[in-house]
Amino acid sequence: MFKIGRNDRCWCGSGKKYKVCHEKSDEKNLEPFAEQGYPMPDRSLILTPEQIEGVRKSAKVSVAIMDELDKTVGEGITTNDIDTLVSKLTAEAGGIPAPLNYEGFPKSCCTSVNNVVCHGIPNDTKLKNGDIINVDITTIIDGYYSDMSRMYMIGEVSEEARLLSERTKEMMYAGIDVIRPYMPVAEIGNTIHDIADKYGYGVVRILCGHGVGLDFHLDPIVNHYRSSKKSMILVPGMVLTVEPMINMGTHECDILADEWTVVTRDGSLSAQWEHTVVVTENGAEILTI
Ligand code: MF3
Ligand code: CO
Ligand code: CO
Repeated sequence: MFKIGRNDRCWCGSGKKYKVCHEKSDEKNLEPFAEQGYPMPDRSLILTPEQIEGVRKSAKVSVAIMDELDKTVGEGITTNDIDTLVSKLTAEAGGIPAPLNYEGFPKSCCTSVNNVVCHGIPNDTKLKNGDIINVDITTIIDGYYSDMSRMYMIGEVSEEARLLSERTKEMMYAGIDVIRPYMPVAEIGNTIHDIADKYGYGVVRILCGHGVGLDFHLDPIVNHYRSSKKSMILVPGMVLTVEPMINMGTHECDILADEWTVVTRDGSLSAQWEHTVVVTENGAEILTI
């Protein structure tokens, strides 16, 4: 399991010795899963209260930036304008936009319009009436990463586009609501996929949520689709994203020649919402709120 000595400080950050803190409950809650071969989180994925506080501060900055975007994103502005604003607001807050130069990504945020599923690169195209767009930002503050995204409806959008966005948000919250400590992470995807099926939507499979906080993309992999594979057990102090990408048509996607932009194969609309959450003793707390 955690390979912690009984006399070492407990992983939870209480400062107490492991044997008088979480050792007993770990044995009870984790051993049954460990025996069945479920992957256990590495100790480094469990944040101390101080580290969680760091991610919380970062998340507050991300929310403030996103709230500014709420006032700005609309008809006639370009996705480059959005990028410029994210870059400026992040710098003013003393932060760094994690996407910039990440594995060669050229901009400070992702802007994914209509049939773009995610990782859209900001450019000079103006947003027009009827578009839907996801803006995804990740902010680094004092070394701590917070990752979030929202959808925006430009002018008057079709009823089906608005519903796709609203229902994708519903699926993100349902995926967060189901989180409990000592639960396999795949339960998140099982919950989301059930709702998507009800609406007849496709759940994107080639991209996933992820551990976050001390770095941009960490374990565990948070799939949004149904899976019976043995997945990592969640424990209090783990920080991760829930970020379903939901297509009006099938789940299938293609990646454009720029090697970033992910689009729906059938050209249908796609929506995404993302929060960063921390697993607690009785559920999950949303940090990017
Ligand atoms: N923010 C995205 C996520 O939710 C990752 C974007 S990677 C980038 O994981 F390089 F495209 F920015
Ligand atoms: Co993410
Ligand atoms: Co993101």
